[in-house]
Amino acid sequence: MFKGVLFDLDGVITDTAEYHYHAWKKLADGLGISIDRAFNESLKGVSREDSLRLILAHGKKQAEIPAAQFAQLAKEKNDHYVELIERFSEKDIYPGILSLLQTLKENKIKIALASASKNGPMLLEKMGLTSLFDAIADPAAVASGKPAPDIFLEAARLIDVPITECLGIEDALAGIQAIKTSGATPVGVGRAEDLGDDIPLVPSTEALTFDYLKDVWENR
Ligand code: BG6
Ligand code: MG
Repeated sequence: MFKGVLFDLDGVITDTAEYHYHAWKKLADGLGISIDRAFNESLKGVSREDSLRLILAHGKKQAEIPAAQFAQLAKEKNDHYVELIERFSEKDIYPGILSLLQTLKENKIKIALASASKNGPMLLEKMGLTSLFDAIADPAAVASGKPAPDIFLEAARLIDVPITECLGIEDALAGIQAIKTSGATPVGVGRAEDLGDDIPLVPSTEALTFDYLKDVWENR
């Protein structure tokens, strides 16, 4: 049986993946760069700074942006994003997630957050989920972001569970790659077109039950 579950946040615990997209789109529009949902798939799971680099490269504008303006743009995006999530509460937890977290806890499975988002702790707090998490890995404390495995390795270290005895749950390709490289067992939330057809996938979080995770573990 697995001993730990490492959760991505945006797009797994709540719908913030959508809000990140809206905030990036507004920023990109202002720069005259057009981004769509297909392009946005490449931003999911990717850090704020790396996402901005990808957007500027997409608009062929990276050469025009000096460091101070780069930092300002990243701040603008985050300010807008923080405004969008200001009223987040328990009602914004994706279906099935609260009962999954509670069941894991009852079964003494350790729970950790492995999100690239620096807003992670604030969001867990707003949704009333902080006390259910045994650890929150700090994305600022790891050398490389997803698709590197660092944040999942750090999350497993914090809960003191060998990474090979953990499941990792993700909605982004970069995150699935990170889980695979880390040695944890991946579970994807989303479509095979985006995440690949070589891992167990659920179309939405309602299907993420404890029984489903046990089944994934037994058949890995
Ligand atoms: C990831 C999201 O979880 O966190 C990305 O999938 C986001 O879209 C990244 O860019 C960083 O988030 P933040 O809140 O630190 O800007
Ligand atoms: Mg995500």
